[in-house]
Amino acid sequence: MKGTRIVMLSRIVLAASAALMLTGGVALAQDVIQTRKAGFDDYKKAMGEIKDAVGKGDLATVGPVAGRIDAFAATIPSLFPPGSDKGKTAAKELIWANFPDFTAKAQDLQASAKALQVAAASGDKATTAKAFGAMADSCKACHQRYRSE
Ligand code: HEC
Repeated sequence: MKGTRIVMLSRIVLAASAALMLTGGVALAQDVIQTRKAGFDDYKKAMGEIKDAVGKGDLATVGPVAGRIDAFAATIPSLFPPGSDKGKTAAKELIWANFPDFTAKAQDLQASAKALQVAAASGDKATTAKAFGAMADSCKACHQRYRSE
């Protein structure tokens, strides 16, 4: 009798902790969604800043902003834990079936943001504008496949 009770008790404890882990997971997923959205919102701002700076020929401003894009891109894969396509998010489930490709697209963005820094440092406006266009293509390449409209 005593043995059965212990088994039952431990089952209840197990079920309770599983439920806790589940709700904890959902809360974490919401946090991570907020974090990545904030990062992408800053990307939108950064793109505007670069566009203005290139337009004005103020290439010294471009490098640091491209550096900001590079730094956040390095964290993108870690902000997409499995299951974080649930909730208020435009992330497609396809991300996790193709995670190496998703990661490669974040790395492509890093590479193009670094190339933009180099181009801006050259002081040539046309080269910088071209590198800016190439970086914007890296954004699009990932969105086309992994972000829903
Ligand atoms: C490796 C893939 C990837 C790359 C590269 C990428 N994005 Fe995104 N982006 C996403 C995904 C996925 C979402 C949807 C996130 C969500 O809703 O949880 C998103 C969302 C966004 C959003 C909407 C944020 C919001 O508040 O809902 C903006 C704006 C954005 N990205 C801009 C950019 C810009 C600009 C670049 C390039 C400098 C870029 N992204 C590069 C995958 C990427």
